[in-house]
Amino acid sequence: MNSNVLVLDPKARDRVGEDRELRSRGPVARVDLLGLEAWAISHPAYLKRLLTDDRVSKDARRHYPDFEQTVQRWPLWLWIAVENMFTAYGTDHRALRRLVGPAFNHRRTKAMRPVIQTITDRLLAKMLAKEKAGELVDLRADFAHQLPMDVIHHLMGMPREWQEAMAEPVGKVFDTSLDMGAALQNGEALKALLARFVEYKRAHPGDDLTSDLIRARDGEMRLSEQQLVDTLLLVFSAGYETTVGLIVNTNRNLLEHPRQLEIVRRNPEELMGAAVQETLRRDASVAVLPLRYATEPIDLPEISVRIGQGEPILAAYSAAGRHPAVFDQPDVFDVLRPDSSSHLAFGHGAHMCLGAPLATEEAKIASTSFHKAFPDAVIAVDTDELVPVESIVSNSLQELPIARESAMKRRRAA
Ligand code: HEM
Repeated sequence: MNSNVLVLDPKARDRVGEDRELRSRGPVARVDLLGLEAWAISHPAYLKRLLTDDRVSKDARRHYPDFEQTVQRWPLWLWIAVENMFTAYGTDHRALRRLVGPAFNHRRTKAMRPVIQTITDRLLAKMLAKEKAGELVDLRADFAHQLPMDVIHHLMGMPREWQEAMAEPVGKVFDTSLDMGAALQNGEALKALLARFVEYKRAHPGDDLTSDLIRARDGEMRLSEQQLVDTLLLVFSAGYETTVGLIVNTNRNLLEHPRQLEIVRRNPEELMGAAVQETLRRDASVAVLPLRYATEPIDLPEISVRIGQGEPILAAYSAAGRHPAVFDQPDVFDVLRPDSSSHLAFGHGAHMCLGAPLATEEAKIASTSFHKAFPDAVIAVDTDELVPVESIVSNSLQELPIARESAMKRRRAA
């Protein structure tokens, strides 16, 4: 292996260290992503430039010469093989995005607030009962994991009996420790499940995004059946793990920095939003985003880089969020930082996250309500025992065990 190429750890055991190493190699550097070499962009200015450059495409079928071989052997095949707005370019992209966009605008998101609050309150009541019964509470499994799932199911009109079957395959889309066989099986199982769900919704339409998309497909034939299933796959997978990560990371940061939590508590209406933005900057829950391709050579002479036509490009969002050229003392978690929200954690340009307002609303409501319900919460293990999720893409923790400080003190004294 060429030593100029940084091999990204599939289990992401030291994300902060790896991102630091990536930045030290320059704004645009070579990385190995599960055996595939790419140009990783970690400097925010270069990211913005390339994410708005028409010579950069996400359409692997059209612009990646190794597409056919790669989907046969690369565990992240699903990320480049899906046919939806995520992998579309130019006018195709705009047409696909227009179909889904209105469902996620600010007005619709605002209307989701009471739904998010009701789900949050129900989950917190269960957590409180668990804690009262002396059981350990895991903020990820008991809370952060369930909330975005329930929200997406509500939006997509997915009845409860389908939900459990969805959780595992969607979670595995982000698991970069799977080998090709397991990743292939998982992707195909997920697509088959969603194809069955489309049939179900054709028979049981409702006032939901899935039914809207089916109407678009069946009415004006603007979507192929493949695009319909893959668009559902995108919304489910984009909306789960990413938001779980944001809720876990926000609360981890607040619990690890009690003085910051104290500042937020004095004015949660305004400052919980700031804590969420600062978390997105410092610990982007989508760390890197595979993949983009140069449609023609791109010269960056000032840094002596030429990205060749067809070469893959990786947006390195978590590394960009801690870039010292842009953010003062970037490792520090500071809810009063004036420029937190200039992060790129939701991407930038044409493919910028459609669900950003929804995800931030969920994280704000979840975190405000959690700290109200558990005013004396602490992390119940030493922070060096917290284990990251095994994913190059998703940046979060496998578990975040919490307890009440009083109970921890009693336990220590006993
Ligand atoms: C904290 C939570 C989230 C994070 C960090 C996040 C991050 C991102 C990022 C970085 C992109 C841009 C990908 C690129 O570089 O091309 C993206 C795209 C997208 N996100 Fe999110 N996302 C989150 C939540 C959501 C939610 C809740 C939904 C919907 C339910 C959603 C739907 C989408 C869609 C549909 C796209 C594709 C847009 C396009 O290609 O035009 N995301 N997201």
